[in-house]
Amino acid sequence: MVTKPDAPATERNRNAILEVIRDEFQDCRAVLEIGSGSGQHAIFFASRMSWLTWQTSDLAANHDGINAWLADANPGNVQAPLELDVEEPLQTNDKFDAVFSANTAHIMSIAAVECMFRIVARCLTDGGKFCLYGPFNQNGEFTSDSNRDFDANLKSQNPAMGIRDLEVLDGFAEANDLHRAGLYAMPANNMIAVWIKS
Ligand SMILES: C[S@@+](CC[C@H](N)C(=O)[O-])C[C@H]1O[C@@H](n2cnc3c(N)ncnc32)[C@H](O)[C@@H]1O
Repeated sequence: MVTKPDAPATERNRNAILEVIRDEFQDCRAVLEIGSGSGQHAIFFASRMSWLTWQTSDLAANHDGINAWLADANPGNVQAPLELDVEEPLQTNDKFDAVFSANTAHIMSIAAVECMFRIVARCLTDGGKFCLYGPFNQNGEFTSDSNRDFDANLKSQNPAMGIRDLEVLDGFAEANDLHRAGLYAMPANNMIAVWIKS
């Protein structure tokens, strides 16, 4: 029996994220989450947006943990994780009208982040939305001292990690027919950026 993993940050940020994505996903039916991690976000968000289906995904190493949460607390509209490494070919032909991802862009290498935008564009239907939560830089600058410290801490663990520039993400998006449609300031110097495929 697998112990359910616990990511306490999901409990701190989930209410503020829900406030934004509940509106953004009001007209959406099928959401793909990239980098579901523990699976706690999926269960919380899907249980409060009963009109949609939430497809979890992550690297294979995280699937047992996500499945353990689902075995215990699936609200009924969360699907078992797809194996999805953004740097590998996509293993589904399914289309989604929304993609959500939290705290992934600063963990993936910049090359992987570019791949993520390519994958997002491939999965989304026309008019579909991509909501990406996390810390971002703006105009090449950290938006707070705490983000600067966090970036240094990430890079000390792995030089490929780090807080990304929003303008660089916009460039990856534009190259894949995704256009920024929104930007929300979130607690603790985070943001949610929204891109729409057209
Ligand atoms: C900091 S965790 C965030 C997890 C969860 N979204 C959350 O907010 O708690 C980063 C996640 O990105 C995933 N990840 C890292 N590299 C990835 C890749 N190349 N493709 C897909 N997911 C990746 C990790 O497995 C992990 O689940």
